Amino acid sequence: MADMSVTLCGLKLDNPVIPASGVFGYGAEFKDFYDINILGSFSFKGTTKEPRFGNPTPRIAECCCGMINSIGLQNPGIEAVISEELPNISTYFKKPVIANVGGYSVSEFVYCAEMLSEAPQVGIIEVNISCPNIHRGGANFASDPKSAAEVTAAVRKVSKKPIFIKLSPNVTSIADVARACEDAGADGLSLINTLLGMRIDIKRARPVIANKAGGFSGRAIFPVALRMVYDTAAAVKIPIMGMGGVATAKDVIEMMMAGATAVQIGAENLRNPFVCKEIIEELPSLMAELNIERLADIIGIAQ
Ligand code: SIN
Repeated sequence: MADMSVTLCGLKLDNPVIPASGVFGYGAEFKDFYDINILGSFSFKGTTKEPRFGNPTPRIAECCCGMINSIGLQNPGIEAVISEELPNISTYFKKPVIANVGGYSVSEFVYCAEMLSEAPQVGIIEVNISCPNIHRGGANFASDPKSAAEVTAAVRKVSKKPIFIKLSPNVTSIADVARACEDAGADGLSLINTLLGMRIDIKRARPVIANKAGGFSGRAIFPVALRMVYDTAAAVKIPIMGMGGVATAKDVIEMMMAGATAVQIGAENLRNPFVCKEIIEELPSLMAELNIERLADIIGIAQ
């Protein structure tokens, strides 16, 4: 039987398939489509200290082979996530989850990561320093190695769980930022977040998105994401969760050959809510076709 298991910082996953933060909520809607316990894990919606309504609407724009979002970290806030969402998740998801944390300051990241790392259901803290939608122009803590390292070191000090730093593609060298995070104590990296993009409504001659620009994701960005995972894997020793435009079992194999230990699927879940289930079901036959017995054996073999 095909062995699809992978291990992320000591956490063994049945398979590397993980819905990405922001497209899967807390899993409650998806559990009605299929048994989400087949997933390796899932990363829940980015959590901030206070509840956030997010950015003004419109905050979604359709694009060829993808979409732009400018959600602005809408979420119920850490108190509600800990007292309501996590107990609710434990009724239908029996594996460790990935807690994605967002923030506007180092102290907010620290606060959220420390509290969520205490929760027994949380296996990994994913520190989203790369949201392009919270400051005009998309600047964030992932924009330069120094600020990325500052958040990483501060969160590392307080987290009882492995921390994965989520990196931005909107930089000159993602490998430089990755190395800075590794040196500052990151246990792993998640990449890539969305690419800054925009659309214009030609009837109104105005940007479609109220915030003007947003983060572009979806199938169109897969080659960009793959290249960045490849470069980053060559630059660091810590494990990587690869993401960006992944939509098929073949994409998962490519990401892993580039150097990802696990693979997150984002925008495609919004187009096809069954995509993760389909990928998990398709992987064994693709592995057989490629003579792969253990999926873990292909991590980084294209390097
Ligand atoms: C958002 O809530 O704006 C999306 C989060 C992200 O892209 O990091």
